[in-house]
Amino acid sequence: MNLLEVATEAAKKAGAIIDGYFETGIAREVKDDKSFVTAADKEAEAAIISHIKKHFPDHSILSEESGAETQNSAYQWIIDPLDGTANFVNGIPLFAVSIAVLKDGVPVAGVIYQPVGDSLYTAEKGKGTFWNGKNVRVSDGDTEHAVITFSPGKKAKNQLNTLFSKAEGFVKSKRYLGCAALDLAYVARGGTEGVFFLGLNKWDYAAGVLLVTEAGGMITDCFGKPWVFGASDYFIASNGNIHDALLKLATVAR
Ligand code: IPD
Ligand code: CA
Ligand code: CA
Repeated sequence: MNLLEVATEAAKKAGAIIDGYFETGIAREVKDDKSFVTAADKEAEAAIISHIKKHFPDHSILSEESGAETQNSAYQWIIDPLDGTANFVNGIPLFAVSIAVLKDGVPVAGVIYQPVGDSLYTAEKGKGTFWNGKNVRVSDGDTEHAVITFSPGKKAKNQLNTLFSKAEGFVKSKRYLGCAALDLAYVARGGTEGVFFLGLNKWDYAAGVLLVTEAGGMITDCFGKPWVFGASDYFIASNGNIHDALLKLATVAR
């Protein structure tokens, strides 16, 4: 099995575990950074890691709940077993499993799986992005029709509020979905036109950025410079058409 097949199987196994806990009133723990974690996050993560180790025992792994396991390998798996835990525990179906594989620090395979709706997004470097097996591209929507989202980390709440309040006039409408992986998956499949990523972690976006670039989207830093993986946790991803407008919004909000 290749990297994408193993990632896909792992994401589906994790998704089944998470789905089994959805709307069951599962207990939540509050982590040091005040975010939630549940048994679903932990069991899904264990299932993903065990599946990866069965097929690629020599690869390095970075996973949100269990941290880094570094080996002498060109390959690193980056995992968010349950992105959108706050939605999940509140019965909001916007949550997903996110798994990426990097080779020499560059994403080469990515899977985002949304258990509710059984929605599977996959990408391999140079081979395009697929949504439930169908090749997808970013939208050709312009600013007049654009829906954008915001994906803030804890340290970026002020920037989020400023950007949100100033977005009027730059795009048609704006949302805060509470699931970073889906923010990027929706841009990739042409559902939304762009997203601001503000200070999140690699596991929140490693798979999603590959989906967006393989679907023909654009990613830059907030000053318009080309973004490369790991350069910064602040970036703008879009369909390309509305990118200049988002950069102007970033300037106005600075
Ligand atoms: C969270 C989500 C959310 C973002 C938070 C993240 P988690 O991830 O991606 O959209 O705004 O900052 O922590 O904790 O549910 O995996
Ligand atoms: Ca996350
Ligand atoms: Ca998570």
